[in-house]
Amino acid sequence: MRSVLAGVDVGTSKVCTLIGETGPDGAVAVLGYGVVPCTGLRRGVVVNIEATVEALRAATTEAEKAAGMRISNAVVGVAGAHIRGLNSHGIVAVRGGEVGPRDVERVIEAARAVAIPLDRQVLHILPQQFAVDDQDGVRDPIGMAGVRLEARIHIVTAAQTYGQNLYKCCERAGISASEFVFEPLASADAAIFPEERELGVALIDIGGGTTDIIVFYNGAVMHTAVLPVGGNHLTSDVAAGLRTPLTEAERLKINYGVATNQVVGHDETVRVPGVGGREPREIQRRLLGEIIEPRMEEIFAMAQRELLRSGVADCLSSGIVLAGGTSLLEGTQELAERIFGMPVRRGLPVNLKGMPEELMKPMYTTAAGLLLHAGHGRSHANGLGRFGRWGRLRMRVSDWVRDFF
Ligand SMILES: Nc1ncnc2c1ncn2[C@@H]1O[C@H](COP(=O)(O)OP(=O)(O)OP(=O)(O)O)[C@@H](O)[C@H]1O
Ligand SMILES: [Mg+2]
Repeated sequence: MRSVLAGVDVGTSKVCTLIGETGPDGAVAVLGYGVVPCTGLRRGVVVNIEATVEALRAATTEAEKAAGMRISNAVVGVAGAHIRGLNSHGIVAVRGGEVGPRDVERVIEAARAVAIPLDRQVLHILPQQFAVDDQDGVRDPIGMAGVRLEARIHIVTAAQTYGQNLYKCCERAGISASEFVFEPLASADAAIFPEERELGVALIDIGGGTTDIIVFYNGAVMHTAVLPVGGNHLTSDVAAGLRTPLTEAERLKINYGVATNQVVGHDETVRVPGVGGREPREIQRRLLGEIIEPRMEEIFAMAQRELLRSGVADCLSSGIVLAGGTSLLEGTQELAERIFGMPVRRGLPVNLKGMPEELMKPMYTTAAGLLLHAGHGRSHANGLGRFGRWGRLRMRVSDWVRDFF
């Protein structure tokens, strides 16, 4: 039987709905998509319900038309600076001398029993490693003999009210959110290979309103963070620096902007339209670089601090993967390589079949990952199967809205 899947990325700049299906081989393929600009979010969280609902409805209708089918539920991405990631650790005594599923549930329960404020919900529990007695680095402890079971986990939590607002928007747009997924986790599913997760890799998604970071080492999530800065700040900087309207600043940034003047010649010029009836003027392209570079350096310096916090910054042999629309800025890779001192590549949505050519861009990586997530949940193709059945414990969206209706 065909099962219809959907992933919805509600970003600060756009809503992207992807509809797909799983083939007989278990691979997820795209059937249709819709992308609509959205003004209802600021820094990754809903600030205008009407505008968000409208964009959600429009993107979903577009995707439904293209796919020739309707959807009623979808995996929805969650982002925003209210999201926190923390590592935790629990120990239990093994019952009966052999680790069973109940013991694993108990140890994860013990590890997640950290103080999580009442106004927060757990979005993900991501096991890092298990240990049975003195044997650490265990991936699936079921069936192992021992007396003591330990678990290290990474917990991602989100502010409940932000989740509820997003849920509300989806409901009003006729989509039931079957699951909320932290956006960089989805982006990683779409763009990162299993070997990279093993060797150590950091994905940095620079969107419009936020920069999301996720760090993998030994196949597990070691650190997550959301920074409240993104491409929109570059646009505001250009608007202020050149005294030009935001729409014009956005156009100049996209067409001529550079993350570093390393990639600009000395004689390149750009035409800037005047404001309030003033004459247009010619400026050096390097001037745009002088405005944008310090902000990009700041974003990367903040990201670098998060990598250091992960404790595995020195072990990221697979380097950095950049996603999000802002990573399209010319010179971004060069600047990142200089700041991080590591190999840097662009993270395109390559792990999904039948992705239309026009969506093979770093701003659609999150939506692709959300659709993949709808298909597999715990994918074997992309390395999430490393922890067997404990790879990713699914949180029910109903937990979010239980106290709400
Ligand atoms: N070619 C380009 N060069 C530079 N910046 C670009 C380019 N194309 C898009 N952008 C910028 O990328 C940003 C949008 O990226 P993206 O679609 O990944 O964000 P989003 O997912 O909507 O937002 P967020 O993830 O922050 O909620 C905007 O700031 C836009 O100006
Ligand atoms: Mg995004």
